[in-house]
Amino acid sequence: MSAMRLSGKTTLITGGAGGIGAEIARRFREEGATVFVADTNCVEGAKTAASMGAVFLELDITSEDSWKAALSTVLEQTGHLDVLVNNAGINIRKNIEEMDVESFDTMLAVNVKGPFLGIKHVLPIMRAGGGGTILNMSSICGLVGHGYTNETYTTTKGALTMLTKSVAVRYAKDNIRCNSVHPSTVETALVQAMLKDPERRAERLGEVPLGRLASTTDVANALVYLASDEASFINGAAIPIDGGLTAG
Ligand SMILES: NC(=O)c1ccc[n+]([C@@H]2O[C@H](COP(=O)([O-])OP(=O)(O)OC[C@H]3O[C@@H](n4cnc5c(N)ncnc54)[C@H](O)[C@@H]3O)[C@@H](O)[C@H]2O)c1
Repeated sequence: MSAMRLSGKTTLITGGAGGIGAEIARRFREEGATVFVADTNCVEGAKTAASMGAVFLELDITSEDSWKAALSTVLEQTGHLDVLVNNAGINIRKNIEEMDVESFDTMLAVNVKGPFLGIKHVLPIMRAGGGGTILNMSSICGLVGHGYTNETYTTTKGALTMLTKSVAVRYAKDNIRCNSVHPSTVETALVQAMLKDPERRAERLGEVPLGRLASTTDVANALVYLASDEASFINGAAIPIDGGLTAG
């Protein structure tokens, strides 16, 4: 039997209550990691964590105080943090011409300020522990302009791509790796509801060379690799998980 790939690692996954984050948490547990599921949704977050032997943490990533409180709980319970997954993100689906400033600010707060604050506060913890890994959930929209996605979401995911590269270059000296992942449309409950319309579904399938949507497990498996020591020389990479969409 092969050894578990994340044993001994303490990990924190934001937005882990459901969707892609919950599947990342499940795969990390399967590979032997200690997992903190962090989310604003306490009811779903606690259920998800309990179902897999993870610990739930209430965390609003847009609040610096909330990050400080959550990370001090992690340190009290385990003494170190090896992997941060900045997964939580939102999309208020309005084109630039209809986008109100309040919605724009909200998206920036969750999709950019949230990961920024997380990185700010885990860097000293990881440095003290001798190193670590930060994984940022961007999107194909952090790599290319996408015909079906609004400008604001693309702006926030592009910012995350470059935040990743900056941290990768500047904190490698502390043995901290930082990478971003870029899924195309993922078959989550939310997306399934949106794609009930056969025309929209055909659009989304038609743009993927492999001819299907990503599963949450497709995404989580890439994160298992990147979080593990197998990826010890992968730093500053922007990895598409998109069936070839951005290769064209
Ligand atoms: N679903 C897709 O097709 C797709 C494709 C590419 C990238 N992504 C990205 O993947 C990530 C997860 O997407 P998903 O589809 O699983 O979304 P989701 O809406 O199912 O889950 C997001 C989670 O984040 C939590 N959250 C929202 N605001 C928060 C905050 N301020 N603090 C803490 N938690 C907060 C929510 O409660 C929820 O549990 C997002 O960053 C999204 O942009 C999704």
